[in-house]
Amino acid sequence: MRQMVMVGFLQAQNCTTLASAWRHPDARSDFTTPAYYQRIGQILEEGKFQMAFFDDRLAMPDIYGGNPAEVVANGVRVVKIDPVATMLAMGFGTRYLGIGSTASTTYYEPFDVARRFQTVDHMLGGRAAWNVVTSVNDAEAHNMGREVHMEHDLRYDRADEFMEIVLSCWDGWEDGALIVNKTTGEFADPRKVHRLEYRGKFLNSAGTFTVPRSPQGHPVVIQAGSSDRGKIFSARWAETVFVGYSDIEEGKKQYAEFKTEVARLGRDPDLTTVNTIAYPVVAETRAEAEDKMAVIDSLYKEVDGLSLLSEALNFDFKTKGMDEAFSKEELAGMSGMQAMRDRVMRVIGRPPTVRDFLEVTRRGRPREAIVGSGKDIADRMEHWFTERACDGYVIAGTHMPGSFEDFVRFVVPELQRRGLYRKEYTGATLRENLGLPIPQRNAWRLPQAAE
Ligand SMILES: Cc1cc2nc3c(=O)[nH]c(=O)nc-3n(C[C@H](O)[C@H](O)[C@H](O)COP(=O)(O)O)c2cc1C
Repeated sequence: MRQMVMVGFLQAQNCTTLASAWRHPDARSDFTTPAYYQRIGQILEEGKFQMAFFDDRLAMPDIYGGNPAEVVANGVRVVKIDPVATMLAMGFGTRYLGIGSTASTTYYEPFDVARRFQTVDHMLGGRAAWNVVTSVNDAEAHNMGREVHMEHDLRYDRADEFMEIVLSCWDGWEDGALIVNKTTGEFADPRKVHRLEYRGKFLNSAGTFTVPRSPQGHPVVIQAGSSDRGKIFSARWAETVFVGYSDIEEGKKQYAEFKTEVARLGRDPDLTTVNTIAYPVVAETRAEAEDKMAVIDSLYKEVDGLSLLSEALNFDFKTKGMDEAFSKEELAGMSGMQAMRDRVMRVIGRPPTVRDFLEVTRRGRPREAIVGSGKDIADRMEHWFTERACDGYVIAGTHMPGSFEDFVRFVVPELQRRGLYRKEYTGATLRENLGLPIPQRNAWRLPQAAE
C-alpha cells in the first residue's frame, strides 16, 4: 500500500518558518546548541519521519526599512546558523532520520556543494539530502559580495549547469573504486575514478572529485521551486519536491501536471514524491487545539509579515503606505518569489496594496493551519493523500519542539492505525526509507543524452 512521506520543516534559526515562534511560551531558546537540534531529531525519529529538513537563506530579512533595527529587535528570522553543520549535530543524535539542508546554486561553487554534502552523507551513513535553491533576494547578494541578485530565469539556467557538475562529481567515484589493500599497496582502482571536464555557458569545472561514493550513492536531491521555470527545474532534477498547494483542487491539478512533466522527461514519476506544507495545530480535543491556535495567533506582529514580504519579493514594503497600490513597474521589478506576487495579483484582480499582500499571502502567520484533534488532522491528511494532491507532507512547526511533540503524540498513531504511514523504518539510509534506488552512474542524464 502507498505510504505517506513525512518531512519535518526545520530552521537552524531562532524561530520556525513562523517568525513569531520564538515568542511562544513553550518554545525553547537554546537554538544555538546541539542539544536543541538533537531533541527535535529524536522526536521526529520517534514519529518515523523520513527526513528533517533545514531551510536557509543567506541573509536576515533586513531589506525592510533598509536597515536591520526592526527585524533584530523583533527577532524576525535574524539568527541563521549554518544548516549543513547543524545537520551533523542532529545526525549524531539520531540513527535513522534522513536530514536535508538548503544550499544555494547562485552563491556557492558546485565542487564545494558536491564535496560538503557528500561528506555529510558519509558522516551520517547515507542519510543526507540537499535542497537546491537559486536564492531569492539582493540581501543575499550583498552578503556574498554581489551588487544584485541574478535575474530569475537566468539563475535557473545557470542552476542546470550547476546540477550537471555536482552530479558528475558524485559520479566521479564508482562503487568498488576504493580498495585500500596495505598488502598489495593498491589504494583505489584508477579505472573507477573519473576526471571531470566541464565547460558550460555559465560554469566551468575541471578536476577529479575527492569524495568516494556514500552508503546511499550520493545525497538525495530536493527542490521547491514554484514558479513556472522553477517547476521545470524540479521536474528535471528533484528526487523529492516541496510545494505549498493552497487547496486540494489546486493541489490535484498541479500534482498531476508535475508528474506528467517528470514522465515527459523520461523519469519515473513514482520515484519523485511531492510533499506539501502543512501546519498542524493539534491537541487531545478540537477545543483545546483551538485554544492553542489562539495563543499562536496572538504572537504575530505586523513587522513579521512586512519584513518577510520584503525578503520574499526583494522590495522594501516600508516604502509604501498600507493602502497604497503598487505601480506596474514596481510589480514587474519584484524579482524574488514571483509565484507569490502573481498569486496576489490574480486573487485581487486590480493593482494590489501592501494590505492586500499581507492578507493574501498571510506571510508571517501560520498559513493554512489545520487545527483539531489527531483524528481531524489525519482525516485531512488522508484526504489529500488519497486524492493524489500529494505523496506526503512537510510538517511546519508553530514552535519548537512542542509542535512536533504534539504531532507525534496525536497524529502519527492515527495515520499508522489507518495503514497510511509506516510503523518502522525500512532501512538505514534515506534512499531506503524514501523507496529510492541507489543512483547508477549517469542515471541522471536524460535518456536521449545518456552516454
Ligand atoms: C517547503 C519549502 C521549503 C523551502 N525552502 C527554501 C529555502 O530553504 N530557501 C529558499 O531560498 N527558498 C526555499 N523555498 C522556496 C523555493 O525553494 C524557491 O526558492 C522559491 O519558491 C523561489 O523560486 P521560484 O521563483 O522558482 O518559485 C522553499 C519552499 C518550500 C515550499
